[in-house]
Amino acid sequence: MSIHIGAKEGDIAETVLFPGDPLRAKFVAESFLENAVCYNEVRGMLGYTGTYHGRRVSVQGSGMGQPSLAIYTTELLRDYGVQQIIRIGSCGAMQKEISLHDLIIAMSASTDSNMNRRRFGGEIDFAPCADFSLLERCVAAARERNLGFRVGNVFSTDAFYQPDPEEWKLHAQYGILAVEMETALLYTIAAGFDARALTVLTVSDSLVTGHALASADRERSFADMATLALSLA
Ligand code: HPA
Repeated sequence: MSIHIGAKEGDIAETVLFPGDPLRAKFVAESFLENAVCYNEVRGMLGYTGTYHGRRVSVQGSGMGQPSLAIYTTELLRDYGVQQIIRIGSCGAMQKEISLHDLIIAMSASTDSNMNRRRFGGEIDFAPCADFSLLERCVAAARERNLGFRVGNVFSTDAFYQPDPEEWKLHAQYGILAVEMETALLYTIAAGFDARALTVLTVSDSLVTGHALASADRERSFADMATLALSLA
């Protein structure tokens, strides 16, 4: 057991799907895994292990934001021998040609968080990037399934509600595709453990148009993304 995960050694698979919302972890386990067993209920941050097409895989809630995700990422990699983590989440599009439902595959992540900088003594801006083999396989799988997707830089913010509602326009000018709240630290922590990490996101809202998916539509997009991520396990 670790402090925040009530699993025993060996309860968690080498590959973990990592949605922010623990109820999404439950949904993935119940909809797509065979023989899924819940290994964690501590703080309601549900985690399950089962099999997908014969391969053992876990799905674990990360909570919202980098401080929460950092706790679960560290314990999965340090205490349970996890080797690859695939975050599945949602994001707000920053570019006008990106539509609701599109997939964003995060090649790299910029951030306004201080957590990365502190890790390197405040001296350098580490550039968090995805594991290339996972990225390459995910792109091939998305093409095969005819899913609309973009690959690029995302912005991992600490503040869902920004004091300056126009700030994203500068990030968009530099080609950032979308905003979410977790990937930069996921990639940094995974790099420190020599583990593989990738984030796949569905576009749930657009900062450009102000449009957002209704919750039933979010579920459909989420299911497509979850099966794409499971195919990488
Ligand atoms: N901001 C931050 N995180 C998000 C958003 C957003 O607009 N949409 C989905 N996750």
